[in-house]
Amino acid sequence: MKVLVIGSGAREHALCRSLSLDPDVSALYCAPGNAGIAEVAELHQVDALDGAAVSALAVELGADLVVVGPEAPLVAGVADAVREAGIPVFGPSKEAAQLEGSKAFAKAVMAGAEVPTARSYVCTTPAEAAEALDAFGTPYVVKDDGLAAGKGVVVTDDLDAAKAHANACERVVIEEFLDGPEVSLFAITDGDTVLPLQPAQDFKRALDGDEGPNTGGMGAYSPLPWADPKLVDEVMQTVLQPTVDEMRRRGTPFSGLLYAGLAITSRGVRVIEFNARFGDPETQVVLARLKTPLAGILMAAATGNLADLPPLRWSDEAAVTVVVASHNYPGTPRTGDPITGLDEVAAQDAPHAYVLHAGTRREGDAVVSAGGRVLSVTAVGEDLTEARDRAYRALARVNLDGSQHRTDIAAKAASGA
Ligand code: AMP
Ligand code: GLY
Repeated sequence: MKVLVIGSGAREHALCRSLSLDPDVSALYCAPGNAGIAEVAELHQVDALDGAAVSALAVELGADLVVVGPEAPLVAGVADAVREAGIPVFGPSKEAAQLEGSKAFAKAVMAGAEVPTARSYVCTTPAEAAEALDAFGTPYVVKDDGLAAGKGVVVTDDLDAAKAHANACERVVIEEFLDGPEVSLFAITDGDTVLPLQPAQDFKRALDGDEGPNTGGMGAYSPLPWADPKLVDEVMQTVLQPTVDEMRRRGTPFSGLLYAGLAITSRGVRVIEFNARFGDPETQVVLARLKTPLAGILMAAATGNLADLPPLRWSDEAAVTVVVASHNYPGTPRTGDPITGLDEVAAQDAPHAYVLHAGTRREGDAVVSAGGRVLSVTAVGEDLTEARDRAYRALARVNLDGSQHRTDIAAKAASGA
């Protein structure tokens, strides 16, 4: 099978790494990719948001399957363009990707499917926003309706800051604060059958102790030793299957990856958000534990054959990933700094720990930073303690001037708290 992956993040590197280890994959391409992905896939230049360009590339390469990684191309309709060219694609249609592209749309689907989520108002004027903020009280939760790379949400006790964010967005969702630990649960679906993956936890805030601004995600781990073993079954029944069924009923069937961002509150599980693609950095730890070869799963979802797939196989190992971000992320990041130590990780820490590239590019012999989240050091171990020790040991060999990372990824879960 020839596979083309669209995207250039650590998530796409993780996808490409798994696909490159799959004996059914005879050729692996990635566009546009990055310096790390170039080691496992053949890179091609393409504007990932241009459906015609992506489908032309897929046809030219003779791809049997296209996997669209990030949300922006999905929301732009890239999967539709590839499907129209007759090539199976893993990723939802433009209409179905609205589950991520519009928070208001997601809320409407959840209401239709009776999926538990925070009570919310959609507001378009400062007066409406002020009224909604007053109705819910602190902490205030204000979400930009559109795509914002994980940075469109403000959670604050400061009424002026909440109003300022609301007024800076055209349309906002203001909602009740959900208290409790967060879980990311991914499910692969062909629009009918839903196949949950293993749960993971992401660290959204920039700084240790969950301080600082929201980011795209600074680290993740899986499994979750503290979670109820029945969590996945419960979320399947109350969230994932009803949502997929509702999308089909509405005439916008969802195929690809349905990402449920959940809060485990004292009153039960609530959906914080849906995404229409693999999460980053959770994918790095979920795929590190998946033993079933990936290409067949993605192809079955793309062609409507998930019901025929044997149960997924998982490793008992734990996985931890720690994101290394540029100076000033999540603000405008500094780029163009050399990254060193990557060869040392490959020589001394593989195969248990490895680097997955995100914002990197090659400049002559050097690899330099090219984005906010630069790379993600992933490790597996017998338990979370071993996995995190290995991840941080490997990370210590990587040098990037001015870079930042959290030092407490999976620490609480590893200590049994
Ligand atoms: P989202 O983009 O909707 O995932 O929001 C980003 C982050 O903001 C989430 O991962 C949560 O940490 C936080 N957040 C969003 N909505 C809520 C909520 N209703 N209550 C508490 N925290 C929230
Ligand atoms: N890890 C958060 C996201 O992928 O949106």
